[in-house]
Amino acid sequence: MTKTHPIPPAKQDRVVIFDTTLRDGEQSPGATMSHEEKLEIAAMLDEMGVDIIEAGFPIASEGDFNAVAEISKRSKNSVICGLSRANFKDIDRCWEAVKHAAKPRIHTFIGTSPLHRAIPNLDMDQMAERIHDTVTHARNLCADVQWSPMDATRTEHDYLCRTVEIAIKAGATTINIPDTVGYTAPRESAALIRMLLERVPGADEIIFATHCHNDLGMATANSLAAVEAGARQIECTINGLGERAGNTALEEVVMALKVRNDIMPYTTGVDTTKIMNISRRVAAVSGFPVQFNKAIVGKNAFAHESGIHQDGMLKNAETFEIMRPEDVGLAATSLVMGKHSGRAALRSKLRDLGVEMADNQLADVFVRFKELADRKKEVYDDDLLALVRVTEDAT
Ligand code: KIV
Ligand code: ZN
Repeated sequence: MTKTHPIPPAKQDRVVIFDTTLRDGEQSPGATMSHEEKLEIAAMLDEMGVDIIEAGFPIASEGDFNAVAEISKRSKNSVICGLSRANFKDIDRCWEAVKHAAKPRIHTFIGTSPLHRAIPNLDMDQMAERIHDTVTHARNLCADVQWSPMDATRTEHDYLCRTVEIAIKAGATTINIPDTVGYTAPRESAALIRMLLERVPGADEIIFATHCHNDLGMATANSLAAVEAGARQIECTINGLGERAGNTALEEVVMALKVRNDIMPYTTGVDTTKIMNISRRVAAVSGFPVQFNKAIVGKNAFAHESGIHQDGMLKNAETFEIMRPEDVGLAATSLVMGKHSGRAALRSKLRDLGVEMADNQLADVFVRFKELADRKKEVYDDDLLALVRVTEDAT
Protein backbone atom coordinates (compact mmCIF):
# COMPACT_ATOMS: atom_id res chain seq x y z
CA MET A 1 0.00 0.00 0.00
CA THR A 2 1.36 3.44 -0.80
CA LYS A 3 1.69 6.04 1.93
CA THR A 4 -0.81 8.88 1.86
CA HIS A 5 -0.44 12.31 3.41
CA PRO A 6 -2.97 15.10 3.45
CA ILE A 7 -0.01 17.33 2.60
CA PRO A 8 3.40 16.71 1.07
CA PRO A 9 6.32 15.84 3.41
CA ALA A 10 7.22 17.65 6.58
CA LYS A 11 9.69 20.22 5.33
CA GLN A 12 6.99 22.24 3.66
CA ASP A 13 5.35 25.26 5.18
CA ARG A 14 1.82 23.92 5.27
CA VAL A 15 0.62 22.91 8.74
CA VAL A 16 -2.09 20.25 8.89
CA ILE A 17 -4.92 21.12 11.27
CA PHE A 18 -6.28 18.05 13.06
CA ASP A 19 -9.41 18.83 15.03
CA THR A 20 -10.32 16.54 17.92
CA THR A 21 -13.31 18.47 19.34
CA LEU A 22 -15.51 15.43 18.75
CA ARG A 23 -13.10 13.01 20.45
CA ASP A 24 -10.76 14.61 23.02
CA GLY A 25 -13.05 17.63 23.36
CA GLU A 26 -16.11 15.52 23.97
CA GLN A 27 -14.18 13.56 26.65
CA SER A 28 -14.42 16.68 28.80
CA PRO A 29 -16.71 15.82 31.73
CA GLY A 30 -20.20 17.06 30.90
CA ALA A 31 -19.45 17.97 27.26
CA THR A 32 -21.30 15.07 25.66
CA MET A 33 -22.95 15.95 22.34
CA SER A 34 -25.90 14.27 20.66
CA HIS A 35 -25.55 12.36 17.40
CA GLU A 36 -27.13 15.19 15.39
CA GLU A 37 -24.94 17.81 17.08
CA LYS A 38 -21.82 15.82 16.21
CA LEU A 39 -22.85 15.60 12.57
CA GLU A 40 -23.48 19.34 12.51
CA ILE A 41 -20.09 20.21 14.06
CA ALA A 42 -18.30 17.78 11.72
CA ALA A 43 -19.97 19.41 8.69
CA MET A 44 -18.86 22.86 9.92
CA LEU A 45 -15.27 21.65 10.46
CA ASP A 46 -15.20 20.10 6.98
CA GLU A 47 -16.61 23.28 5.45
CA MET A 48 -14.09 25.56 7.18
CA GLY A 49 -11.09 23.68 5.78
CA VAL A 50 -9.96 21.56 8.74
CA ASP A 51 -7.68 18.88 7.23
CA ILE A 52 -8.46 16.04 9.62
CA ILE A 53 -11.46 15.49 11.88
CA GLU A 54 -11.02 13.02 14.72
CA ALA A 55 -14.68 12.05 14.88
CA GLY A 56 -14.66 9.78 17.91
CA PHE A 57 -13.51 6.59 19.60
CA PRO A 58 -15.57 3.86 17.85
CA ILE A 59 -15.02 1.08 20.40
CA ALA A 60 -16.11 3.35 23.27
CA SER A 61 -19.85 3.02 22.62
CA GLU A 62 -22.45 2.22 20.01
CA GLY A 63 -23.20 5.95 19.81
CA ASP A 64 -19.57 6.86 19.12
CA PHE A 65 -19.33 4.16 16.47
CA ASN A 66 -22.48 5.37 14.72
CA ALA A 67 -21.36 9.00 14.81
CA VAL A 68 -17.93 8.20 13.33
CA ALA A 69 -19.50 6.01 10.63
CA GLU A 70 -22.07 8.67 9.66
CA ILE A 71 -19.52 11.49 9.68
CA SER A 72 -17.31 9.30 7.45
CA LYS A 73 -20.15 8.79 4.98
CA ARG A 74 -20.98 12.50 4.85
CA SER A 75 -17.41 13.86 4.74
CA LYS A 76 -16.57 16.01 1.75
CA ASN A 77 -12.99 17.24 2.01
CA SER A 78 -11.55 16.33 5.41
CA VAL A 79 -9.75 13.13 6.37
CA ILE A 80 -11.94 11.31 8.93
CA CYS A 81 -10.06 9.71 11.77
CA GLY A 82 -11.12 7.35 14.55
CA LEU A 83 -9.20 6.54 17.72
CA SER A 84 -8.31 3.04 18.90
CA ARG A 85 -6.21 1.55 21.67
CA ALA A 86 -3.34 -0.78 20.81
CA ASN A 87 -5.30 -3.98 20.25
CA PHE A 88 -6.75 -5.63 17.17
CA LYS A 89 -10.37 -5.48 18.38
CA ASP A 90 -10.25 -1.68 18.82
CA ILE A 91 -8.50 -1.19 15.52
CA ASP A 92 -10.97 -3.40 13.61
CA ARG A 93 -13.91 -1.51 15.13
CA CYS A 94 -12.30 1.78 14.25
CA TRP A 95 -11.78 0.68 10.66
CA GLU A 96 -15.41 -0.48 10.39
CA ALA A 97 -16.46 3.09 11.26
CA VAL A 98 -13.99 5.14 9.21
CA LYS A 99 -13.83 2.93 6.11
CA HIS A 100 -16.84 4.77 4.64
CA ALA A 101 -14.86 8.00 4.37
CA ALA A 102 -13.28 9.10 1.11
CA LYS A 103 -10.14 9.72 3.17
CA PRO A 104 -10.09 7.44 6.26
CA ARG A 105 -7.45 7.39 8.99
CA ILE A 106 -6.87 5.00 11.89
CA HIS A 107 -5.26 6.55 14.98
CA THR A 108 -3.88 4.05 17.45
CA PHE A 109 -2.06 4.81 20.69
CA ILE A 110 -0.42 3.33 23.77
CA GLY A 111 1.04 4.99 26.87
CA THR A 112 4.85 4.76 26.69
CA SER A 113 5.99 6.63 29.82
CA PRO A 114 6.98 4.60 32.91
CA LEU A 115 3.69 5.47 34.64
CA HIS A 116 1.63 4.44 31.64
CA ARG A 117 3.65 1.29 30.91
CA ALA A 118 2.72 0.06 34.38
CA ILE A 119 -1.00 0.05 33.56
CA PRO A 120 -1.08 -2.83 31.03
CA ASN A 121 1.89 -4.27 32.93
CA LEU A 122 4.08 -4.61 29.83
CA ASP A 123 7.86 -4.38 29.94
CA MET A 124 9.67 -2.29 27.34
CA ASP A 125 10.21 -5.22 24.95
CA GLN A 126 6.64 -6.48 25.22
CA MET A 127 5.32 -3.00 24.54
CA ALA A 128 7.63 -2.60 21.54
CA GLU A 129 6.25 -5.82 20.12
CA ARG A 130 2.68 -4.67 20.75
CA ILE A 131 3.38 -1.42 18.89
CA HIS A 132 4.84 -3.29 15.94
CA ASP A 133 1.92 -5.71 15.72
CA THR A 134 -0.88 -3.17 16.13
CA VAL A 135 0.50 -0.59 13.73
CA THR A 136 1.14 -3.33 11.16
CA HIS A 137 -2.44 -4.53 11.60
CA ALA A 138 -3.84 -1.00 11.21
CA ARG A 139 -1.70 -0.40 8.14
CA ASN A 140 -2.98 -3.60 6.53
CA LEU A 141 -6.47 -2.11 6.79
CA CYS A 142 -5.84 1.55 6.01
CA ALA A 143 -3.21 3.47 4.04
CA ASP A 144 -3.29 6.37 6.50
CA VAL A 145 -2.24 5.38 10.03
CA GLN A 146 -1.39 7.67 12.92
CA TRP A 147 0.40 6.37 15.99
CA SER A 148 0.70 8.13 19.36
CA PRO A 149 2.97 7.33 22.30
CA MET A 150 0.67 8.66 25.02
CA ASP A 151 2.48 10.75 27.65
CA ALA A 152 5.38 11.16 25.20
CA THR A 153 6.69 14.20 27.02
CA ARG A 154 7.34 12.07 30.15
CA THR A 155 8.78 9.09 28.25
CA GLU A 156 12.53 8.32 28.36
CA HIS A 157 14.07 9.73 25.16
CA ASP A 158 15.80 6.48 24.17
CA TYR A 159 12.59 4.51 24.54
CA LEU A 160 10.56 7.17 22.73
CA CYS A 161 12.98 7.03 19.77
CA ARG A 162 12.85 3.26 19.78
CA THR A 163 9.05 3.08 19.75
CA VAL A 164 8.68 5.83 17.14
CA GLU A 165 11.11 3.98 14.88
CA ILE A 166 9.13 0.75 15.28
CA ALA A 167 5.86 2.53 14.44
CA ILE A 168 7.37 4.13 11.34
CA LYS A 169 8.82 0.83 10.14
CA ALA A 170 5.43 -0.84 10.72
CA GLY A 171 3.82 1.73 8.42
CA ALA A 172 2.63 4.71 10.50
CA THR A 173 2.37 7.77 8.25
CA THR A 174 1.90 10.31 11.07
CA ILE A 175 3.54 10.17 14.49
CA ASN A 176 1.74 12.23 17.09
CA ILE A 177 3.66 13.40 20.17
CA PRO A 178 1.10 13.97 22.95
CA ASP A 179 1.77 16.13 25.96
CA THR A 180 -1.01 14.21 27.66
CA VAL A 181 -0.88 15.97 31.01
CA GLY A 182 0.10 19.45 29.82
CA TYR A 183 3.52 19.15 31.45
CA THR A 184 5.93 20.39 28.80
CA ALA A 185 7.12 23.96 28.10
CA PRO A 186 7.82 25.59 24.71
CA ARG A 187 11.60 25.10 24.66
CA GLU A 188 11.24 21.46 25.64
CA SER A 189 8.39 20.86 23.18
CA ALA A 190 10.60 22.11 20.33
CA ALA A 191 13.65 20.16 21.52
CA LEU A 192 11.66 16.92 21.61
CA ILE A 193 10.54 17.21 17.98
CA ARG A 194 14.05 18.21 16.91
CA MET A 195 15.53 15.24 18.75
CA LEU A 196 13.10 12.81 17.09
CA LEU A 197 13.78 14.25 13.64
CA GLU A 198 17.53 13.92 14.20
CA ARG A 199 17.66 10.54 15.85
CA VAL A 200 14.90 8.36 14.39
CA PRO A 201 15.61 6.69 11.03
CA GLY A 202 12.81 7.41 8.56
CA ALA A 203 11.56 10.41 10.57
CA ASP A 204 11.86 12.72 7.58
CA GLU A 205 9.37 10.63 5.61
CA ILE A 206 6.48 10.96 8.03
CA ILE A 207 4.65 13.87 9.59
CA PHE A 208 5.14 14.69 13.24
CA ALA A 209 2.08 15.98 15.05
CA THR A 210 1.90 17.91 18.29
CA HIS A 211 -0.99 17.26 20.71
CA CYS A 212 -0.92 19.52 23.75
CA HIS A 213 -3.05 19.84 26.83
CA ASN A 214 -3.41 23.12 28.64
CA ASP A 215 -2.87 22.25 32.32
CA LEU A 216 -0.22 24.96 32.70
CA GLY A 217 -1.77 27.30 30.13
CA MET A 218 1.01 26.60 27.61
CA ALA A 219 -0.77 24.42 25.02
CA THR A 220 -0.76 27.02 22.24
CA ALA A 221 2.84 28.07 22.87
CA ASN A 222 3.96 24.43 23.04
CA SER A 223 2.18 23.58 19.77
CA LEU A 224 3.72 26.53 17.92
CA ALA A 225 7.18 25.73 19.30
CA ALA A 226 6.80 22.16 18.01
CA VAL A 227 5.89 23.48 14.55
CA GLU A 228 8.96 25.72 14.50
CA ALA A 229 11.04 22.62 15.28
CA GLY A 230 9.54 20.62 12.39
CA ALA A 231 6.14 19.27 13.45
CA ARG A 232 3.61 19.77 10.64
CA GLN A 233 0.34 18.75 12.27
CA ILE A 234 -1.32 20.52 15.18
CA GLU A 235 -3.99 18.68 17.14
CA CYS A 236 -6.53 21.02 18.65
CA THR A 237 -10.16 21.64 19.54
CA ILE A 238 -12.61 24.48 19.06
CA ASN A 239 -12.56 26.79 22.13
CA GLY A 240 -9.79 24.56 23.57
CA LEU A 241 -12.49 22.14 24.74
CA GLY A 242 -11.02 19.04 26.38
CA GLU A 243 -10.28 17.12 29.56
CA ARG A 244 -9.20 19.11 32.63
CA ALA A 245 -7.87 22.47 31.36
CA GLY A 246 -8.53 21.45 27.77
CA ASN A 247 -6.57 21.02 24.55
CA THR A 248 -4.78 23.49 22.31
CA ALA A 249 -7.42 25.89 20.95
CA LEU A 250 -7.78 25.69 17.17
CA GLU A 251 -8.67 29.38 16.87
CA GLU A 252 -5.52 30.40 18.74
CA VAL A 253 -2.98 28.42 16.71
CA VAL A 254 -4.63 29.21 13.39
CA MET A 255 -4.85 32.95 14.10
CA ALA A 256 -1.32 33.05 15.57
CA LEU A 257 0.03 31.54 12.35
CA LYS A 258 -1.96 34.04 10.30
CA VAL A 259 -1.25 37.19 12.32
CA ARG A 260 2.44 36.42 13.02
CA ASN A 261 3.25 34.90 9.66
CA ASP A 262 6.22 37.28 9.57
CA ILE A 263 8.00 35.23 12.24
CA MET A 264 6.15 31.89 11.84
CA PRO A 265 5.92 31.46 8.06
CA TYR A 266 3.48 28.54 7.97
CA THR A 267 0.04 28.32 6.43
CA THR A 268 -3.11 26.36 7.22
CA GLY A 269 -6.13 25.59 5.06
CA VAL A 270 -8.62 27.02 7.57
CA ASP A 271 -11.07 29.71 6.49
CA THR A 272 -10.72 31.90 9.58
CA THR A 273 -13.90 33.84 8.87
CA LYS A 274 -15.83 30.76 10.03
CA ILE A 275 -14.18 30.68 13.47
CA MET A 276 -16.69 32.72 15.47
CA ASN A 277 -19.66 30.80 14.19
CA ILE A 278 -18.30 27.36 15.05
CA SER A 279 -17.01 28.63 18.40
CA ARG A 280 -20.53 29.72 19.36
CA ARG A 281 -22.05 26.48 18.12
CA VAL A 282 -19.57 24.30 20.03
CA ALA A 283 -20.17 26.36 23.17
CA ALA A 284 -23.93 25.87 22.77
CA VAL A 285 -23.95 22.14 22.06
CA SER A 286 -21.25 21.21 24.59
CA GLY A 287 -22.73 23.43 27.30
CA PHE A 288 -19.26 24.90 27.94
CA PRO A 289 -19.49 28.72 27.73
CA VAL A 290 -16.49 30.62 26.41
CA GLN A 291 -14.82 32.81 29.03
CA PHE A 292 -15.30 36.54 28.28
CA ASN A 293 -11.58 37.27 27.88
CA LYS A 294 -10.73 34.10 25.90
CA ALA A 295 -8.26 34.85 23.08
CA ILE A 296 -9.88 35.25 19.63
CA VAL A 297 -13.42 34.09 20.48
CA GLY A 298 -14.20 35.61 23.89
CA LYS A 299 -16.98 38.22 24.11
CA ASN A 300 -14.36 40.84 25.00
CA ALA A 301 -11.69 39.80 22.47
CA PHE A 302 -12.72 42.66 20.17
CA ALA A 303 -14.36 44.98 22.71
CA HIS A 304 -12.92 48.24 24.07
CA GLU A 305 -14.12 50.36 26.96
CA SER A 306 -11.33 52.67 28.03
CA GLY A 307 -11.49 56.19 26.63
CA ILE A 308 -7.90 56.11 25.39
CA HIS A 309 -8.45 52.81 23.60
CA GLN A 310 -11.79 53.86 22.11
CA ASP A 311 -10.35 57.13 20.88
CA GLY A 312 -7.39 55.29 19.34
CA MET A 313 -9.71 52.74 17.71
CA LEU A 314 -11.85 55.46 16.18
CA LYS A 315 -8.79 57.10 14.63
CA ASN A 316 -7.04 53.90 13.51
CA ALA A 317 -8.21 50.39 14.46
CA GLU A 318 -4.65 49.08 14.35
CA THR A 319 -3.80 51.18 17.40
CA PHE A 320 -5.31 48.58 19.71
CA GLU A 321 -6.20 45.61 17.49
CA ILE A 322 -3.73 43.18 15.93
CA MET A 323 -6.35 41.45 13.80
CA ARG A 324 -9.56 42.53 12.16
CA PRO A 325 -12.84 41.25 13.62
CA GLU A 326 -13.96 40.30 10.09
CA ASP A 327 -11.01 37.89 9.88
CA VAL A 328 -12.61 35.68 12.53
CA GLY A 329 -16.16 36.22 11.33
CA LEU A 330 -17.25 39.05 13.62
CA ALA A 331 -19.14 41.92 12.05
CA ALA A 332 -17.29 44.69 13.90
CA THR A 333 -15.30 45.75 16.91
CA SER A 334 -17.54 46.75 19.79
CA LEU A 335 -17.03 49.95 21.71
CA VAL A 336 -18.57 49.20 25.08
CA MET A 337 -19.92 52.33 26.73
CA GLY A 338 -18.91 52.43 30.38
CA LYS A 339 -17.35 54.75 32.93
CA HIS A 340 -13.96 54.63 31.17
CA SER A 341 -15.38 55.76 27.81
CA GLY A 342 -14.59 59.20 26.46
CA ARG A 343 -16.40 61.94 24.51
CA ALA A 344 -15.18 60.74 21.09
CA ALA A 345 -16.65 57.29 21.65
CA LEU A 346 -19.92 58.80 22.84
CA ARG A 347 -20.19 60.95 19.73
CA SER A 348 -19.38 57.98 17.49
CA LYS A 349 -21.88 55.72 19.28
CA LEU A 350 -24.65 58.32 19.01
CA ARG A 351 -23.86 58.77 15.34
CA ASP A 352 -24.29 55.00 14.85
CA LEU A 353 -27.68 55.37 16.55
CA GLY A 354 -28.64 58.14 14.13
CA VAL A 355 -28.16 61.04 16.59
CA GLU A 356 -26.13 64.11 15.51
CA MET A 357 -25.56 66.69 18.28
CA ALA A 358 -24.02 70.11 18.61
CA ASP A 359 -20.92 70.25 20.83
CA ASN A 360 -22.71 71.98 23.75
CA GLN A 361 -25.54 69.41 23.72
CA LEU A 362 -23.08 66.55 23.52
CA ALA A 363 -21.26 68.01 26.54
CA ASP A 364 -24.54 67.86 28.52
CA VAL A 365 -25.25 64.26 27.45
CA PHE A 366 -21.67 63.38 28.36
CA VAL A 367 -22.10 64.62 31.93
CA ARG A 368 -25.32 62.62 32.34
CA PHE A 369 -23.68 59.58 30.72
CA LYS A 370 -20.76 59.66 33.21
CA GLU A 371 -23.17 59.88 36.15
CA LEU A 372 -25.08 56.86 34.86
CA ALA A 373 -21.91 54.92 34.03
CA ASP A 374 -20.74 55.28 37.62
CA ARG A 375 -23.87 53.44 38.72
CA LYS A 376 -24.11 50.88 35.87
CA LYS A 377 -21.39 48.51 34.58
CA GLU A 378 -22.41 48.96 30.96
CA VAL A 379 -24.50 51.70 29.38
CA TYR A 380 -26.67 50.29 26.60
CA ASP A 381 -27.92 51.94 23.42
CA ASP A 382 -31.39 52.44 24.92
CA ASP A 383 -29.83 54.16 27.97
CA LEU A 384 -27.98 56.56 25.65
CA LEU A 385 -31.11 57.37 23.67
CA ALA A 386 -32.95 58.08 26.94
CA LEU A 387 -30.14 60.44 28.01
CA VAL A 388 -30.41 62.26 24.67
CA ARG A 389 -34.16 62.74 25.18
CA VAL A 390 -33.69 64.03 28.74
CA THR A 391 -31.02 66.48 27.55
CA GLU A 392 -33.14 67.72 24.65
CA ASP A 393 -36.16 68.21 26.95
CA ALA A 394 -34.03 70.18 29.41
CA THR A 395 -32.74 72.64 26.79
O1 KIV B 1 -3.72 13.35 25.31
C1 KIV B 1 -3.47 12.25 24.77
O2 KIV B 1 -2.45 11.60 25.01
C2 KIV B 1 -4.45 11.73 23.83
C3 KIV B 1 -4.04 10.53 23.04
C4 KIV B 1 -5.11 9.53 22.96
C5 KIV B 1 -3.54 10.95 21.70
O3 KIV B 1 -5.50 12.31 23.64
ZN1 ZN C 1 -5.42 14.38 24.47
